[in-house]
Amino acid sequence: MRKKIVAGNWKMNKTLQEGIALAEELNQVLAADKPNCDVVIGTPFIHLAKISDIIDHKVIGLSAENCADKESGAYTGEVSAAMVKSTGAEYVILGHSERREYYHETYEILKEKVLLALANGLKVIFCIGESLDEREKGIQNQIVKAELEGSVFNLSADEFKNITIAYEPIWAIGTGKTATADQAEEIHAYIRSVIADKYGKQIAEDTSILYGGSCKPSNAGELFAKPDIDGGLIGGASLKVADFKGIIDAWKK
Ligand code: 13P
Repeated sequence: MRKKIVAGNWKMNKTLQEGIALAEELNQVLAADKPNCDVVIGTPFIHLAKISDIIDHKVIGLSAENCADKESGAYTGEVSAAMVKSTGAEYVILGHSERREYYHETYEILKEKVLLALANGLKVIFCIGESLDEREKGIQNQIVKAELEGSVFNLSADEFKNITIAYEPIWAIGTGKTATADQAEEIHAYIRSVIADKYGKQIAEDTSILYGGSCKPSNAGELFAKPDIDGGLIGGASLKVADFKGIIDAWKK
């Protein structure tokens, strides 16, 4: 059975103190009312070590939002997968459209990052998704397939078991425009079929595929009710405990 997951991506938000307060509050709220899905928070690098000490890792997994495409050495300003792992984090988000677009992360760079993350014992939340232009041209399936082939389909079946996919249509990120549940389900089912073609039906059935893009408490229930949507990767709504908890609780309905 594949996991149901609600993961937060804080992006470049929260000072250290604000982030600690947010993680403490979430930890308390989830200790009092246990989730029935896996919960992960993706935070900036500077928060990881402190937050790792605060949270109950049995309830909340911890993720970085990026890691370097090199193992170690003279790469000023970079943070390696080994460093991320040493904070106590269990996950890293890779391939986010903001990293692809603003920091020019290519399929090849992401392939290296994924390999290094896995080699250092991190699980990967790998993001894929098309732009508005690509959706309007009707080539969204080709785009997500190419993103998978370009950066994760080199993995062995055993390695691929450590990958969670996050489908995030770029036109829905931070825009308030959510893909409809039917639109999301259609492409999630397609993504699962592409994984099945590559790794076989069982691995495809066991792979969690999250939806991301303006997911909030009011639409999470409808999205999560779809058979191929296994949870969400949440940006804006992960910055407030009440909103994030509202999305987590969508799995209880
Ligand atoms: P929003 O939930 O703010 O649209 O962001 C989605 C996202 O990019 C998560 O990685």
